[in-house]
Amino acid sequence: MQATAWWQHGVIYEIYPRSFQDSDGDGIGDLRGILHRLDYVVKLGVDALWISPFYPSPMADFGYDVADYCGIDPLFGTMQDFDQLLQEIHNRGLKLILDLVPNHTSDQHPWFLESRSSRDNPKRDWYLWQDEPNNWQSNFGGSGWEWDDVTGQYYYHSFLKQQPDLNWRNPLARRAIFEAMRFWLARGVDGFRVDVIWLMIKDDQFRDNPPNPSYQTGQPSSHRFLPVFNSDRPEVHEVVSKMRAVIDDYRDRVLIGEIYLPIPKLMAYYGKDLGGSQLPFNFQLLQTAWTAEALARAISEYDNALPAGAWPNWVLGNHDNARIATRVGSHQARLSAMLLLSLPGTITLYYGEEIGMTNVPILPDLVQDPAEKNEPGIGLGRDPERTPMPWDSSPLAGFTTGQPWLPLGHDHASLNVVNLEQDPESILHLYRTLIALRKSHPVLVTGELHSIAAANNVLTYERHESGEQLRIILNFGDTPATIPSEIGEILAATSPGSTSERPNKLIQLGAAAGLIVRLHTSR
Ligand code: NOJ
Repeated sequence: MQATAWWQHGVIYEIYPRSFQDSDGDGIGDLRGILHRLDYVVKLGVDALWISPFYPSPMADFGYDVADYCGIDPLFGTMQDFDQLLQEIHNRGLKLILDLVPNHTSDQHPWFLESRSSRDNPKRDWYLWQDEPNNWQSNFGGSGWEWDDVTGQYYYHSFLKQQPDLNWRNPLARRAIFEAMRFWLARGVDGFRVDVIWLMIKDDQFRDNPPNPSYQTGQPSSHRFLPVFNSDRPEVHEVVSKMRAVIDDYRDRVLIGEIYLPIPKLMAYYGKDLGGSQLPFNFQLLQTAWTAEALARAISEYDNALPAGAWPNWVLGNHDNARIATRVGSHQARLSAMLLLSLPGTITLYYGEEIGMTNVPILPDLVQDPAEKNEPGIGLGRDPERTPMPWDSSPLAGFTTGQPWLPLGHDHASLNVVNLEQDPESILHLYRTLIALRKSHPVLVTGELHSIAAANNVLTYERHESGEQLRIILNFGDTPATIPSEIGEILAATSPGSTSERPNKLIQLGAAAGLIVRLHTSR
């Protein structure tokens, strides 16, 4: 594989702006806060920041309900703050990826206010209006259709009723979003992460979805039907290719797609002749059981399914999923870092993973996330993985001087950046080492994946490029394992000291420990 573009060899770092750093004491992170912490991300070694939405918004879904695609919500700062942030990001050689939310707007967006004002408003067709609802569900619970008294019709919303879906069959609505993209591209942003790109086009006949035969009571109500007619429609690929064409009018930009689909369907989002999304997010590591066997299968399946020339990518966490240290246990966090950062292609990290942050339990009174409020108690809430970044040991962890919008983790006095910084064996230093290793050993980015195998909960694979061969050995088990392997030169170890070389080419690996070794190769 040859990595020519920045987004191919870089590591992307997702910042959830409400929770990274507050600069004005209102308890909510903001753009000036991010500016203040840029040197931290430079030191971490990442190459690009993806910042979740900061556009003007009523915040019904914390910014994923956009009321103006070309502005900054005062909560997060001003356009001047944005320009300064972008400038400083670029000055440090980093790139900036914005979150584009084209599937839906806020119900307070002027387009929707116009659309709902009368049936013959020119923007009526910019949204999905029907006389009768079908059985499409909202991903946040209940019917996806909301009755609107003003004009006596229902509109469709894939998420909250405050997030009406745009009609991507309408050329003017399309064009309006493309113009918003151009607004930011011309300002210098380096790409977009496109929210729910696979949901953007719905069946034009609004056919009912078939029932889901494996639905069980207690599951989210959106699982009652199979999303055949309101997601992943064949026409979506034409829309993605049009978005890509907008990106391609500018130099060196990237279009990332948020897509939760099985591998074969996911691959279609690279587009015909790779003219779709350059990086359809690969969520395998978020969804696969945490065993060597399951991971080996998922990694091989993904690698084998990649279309010729398509660029792989790997994600370990984001603002919609439990933090990895909670999902698999803090004792496995270092191993998860080594897995993630030894896989080919582009890597996306979620803020806080590098310090081993865990989900923070949220008391019912403090719940913010509408997903939890709408369907409480079944694990849909995303607040636990969105809590403030703990920077230091002070009472508010250096995040704010006010009341944090979500509670800090109870362990923030010990688990924080300053403390981990001082401990050379901390997970933060491991992350830095592993990210740096990708730079010093490009085989980790571009090398072919070889010999993926799993036995006794130990996963091994190799990375090969121009005569260089690395072997990655990861023990997912809770007990030490002895693995037959040449040891060569150890390039990185999850926990120094837990590894030892035995006679007869045997390696002993501690529980949840991993190694990256360079095999002795003859050139
Ligand atoms: C996906 C986003 O990641 C999530 O946070 C949001 O709630 C939905 N899309 C709706 O925009």
